[in-house]
Amino acid sequence: MPFLFLLSLLGQALSEPIRYAIPEELDRGSLVGNLAKDLGLGVGDLPTRNLRVSAEKKFFTVNTENGDLLVSDRIDREQICGKKSACVLEFEMVAEKPFNFFHLEISELALTGATFDLESAQDPDVGVNSLQQYYLSPNPHFSLTQKENLDGSRYPELVLKAPLDREKQPHHHLVLTAVDGGEPSRSCATQIRIIVRDANDNPPVFTQDMYRVSVGENLPTVSLVLRVLATDLDEGSNDAITYAFINIGKAVRQLFKLDSKTGELTTLGELDFEERDSFTIGVEAKDGGHHTAYCKIQIDIWDENDNAPEITMASESQHIQEDAELGTAFALIKTHYLDSGFNGEILCQLKGKFPFKIIQDTKNTYTLVTDGALDREQIPEYNVTITATDKGNPPLSFSKTITLHILDVNDNVPVFHQASYVVRVAENNLPGASIAQVSTSDPDLGPNGQVSYSTVASDLEPRELSSYVSMSISAQSGVVFAKRAFDHERLSAFKLTLQAGDQGSQRQCEPARVGG
Ligand SMILES: *[C@@H]1O[C@H](CO)[C@@H](O)[C@H](O)[C@H]1NC(C)=O
Repeated sequence: MPFLFLLSLLGQALSEPIRYAIPEELDRGSLVGNLAKDLGLGVGDLPTRNLRVSAEKKFFTVNTENGDLLVSDRIDREQICGKKSACVLEFEMVAEKPFNFFHLEISELALTGATFDLESAQDPDVGVNSLQQYYLSPNPHFSLTQKENLDGSRYPELVLKAPLDREKQPHHHLVLTAVDGGEPSRSCATQIRIIVRDANDNPPVFTQDMYRVSVGENLPTVSLVLRVLATDLDEGSNDAITYAFINIGKAVRQLFKLDSKTGELTTLGELDFEERDSFTIGVEAKDGGHHTAYCKIQIDIWDENDNAPEITMASESQHIQEDAELGTAFALIKTHYLDSGFNGEILCQLKGKFPFKIIQDTKNTYTLVTDGALDREQIPEYNVTITATDKGNPPLSFSKTITLHILDVNDNVPVFHQASYVVRVAENNLPGASIAQVSTSDPDLGPNGQVSYSTVASDLEPRELSSYVSMSISAQSGVVFAKRAFDHERLSAFKLTLQAGDQGSQRQCEPARVGG
């Protein structure tokens, strides 16, 4: 159990006793504390002051060189205090020359002219030999007046003649000398130690009026942005500073947090340069009393390449004729950029090899035009991919694909599958039966590819021809029918020249030989 003992300085000048708590049974020579320091004595004063402990039993000694209070005998708590829960030992300290100390605590707000009684020195002599005068060591803050008690004895009074400022000088050291009227006169001196008590007379002060910082917009949430710092010259609770936002909007409150104790500003949400590129935040610092200070935080957000460029089709035709002229435009493209500076510069390109090219019209518009022959019969549709890439680091890109359908034009003629057909027919054939079939192909679409057939020439007389054969068309083929039975003696062979045609072309087939 700690063992408390108490020291009080001779002369009752200590406003409060000095207390030390130590465990019992400490070894001899153990350090209890530095008495010189705790009494406010300079080490230089020690040799002349002969600091010592006065008591019947010497439990402690004082090192006269450095003022250390040391254990000098066995301390047995039970022996000294029995079963009492608190064990307090009182000792008196003796310091010589000057043998008296006054400790005074004066608020730094004490008004000029305030007075403080000092205890009178006692002089057992009477008459002229008794105390006559008090003198104070010269000091810019204090002067001395002498007052008389009712019994005629004199006592000194300290007068504050200039304001105190703890932040400038927290202690004052005065020497009071009392001189008697004897011959020779005798004097004694007393040290007056004045502790200036702090008052909250200093406002907090920010280290900067304006704190400026730049951060990238992709700063992770709960990152430290900066720290504001205000200091206050006062001490104790008077300099306990708290920080708070002042006059800020909802956006700031959602994005930033200020630690009221440390002044650290951290991010709460995600910053977005494109939404807002700077913030100005007011911060108030308040000390333990009612003093405040203000500063501003300026946060500049720099752009990071976080937005891929965008493409929109300002106009787009999904169809183009296969015979479209070179340079025919079929799509208008607009690019959009959200990032600024280089990050917002965009290059549009076509991906892959196409009979198309992209032409830049303005900074952010492009046209897609044909740049080669189109042939629907070869490639009926294209998926054209346009890529927009910005110049950021790393570059971001965006692609868009449009499907372009090639429209048919009648640019193909029907082609007979055989240049000539030789058909043998037995005589006495059944009238009305088909005797030959020809076929063609035309790669064009729909009506453009629809073929019709006709007979354009024959070695038979036209009248004869019409009595012997007729033609019919089914799909892509033409069928020749015999109208009547052939007679080999009369007609052993004849030649037909057929023509196939689509809407835009005529092509002859020659000959289709039909024999009886
Ligand atoms: C174009 O894209 C569409 C949709 O993805 C697909 O169905 C079609 O086959 C593609 N055409 C070509 C020629 O690649």
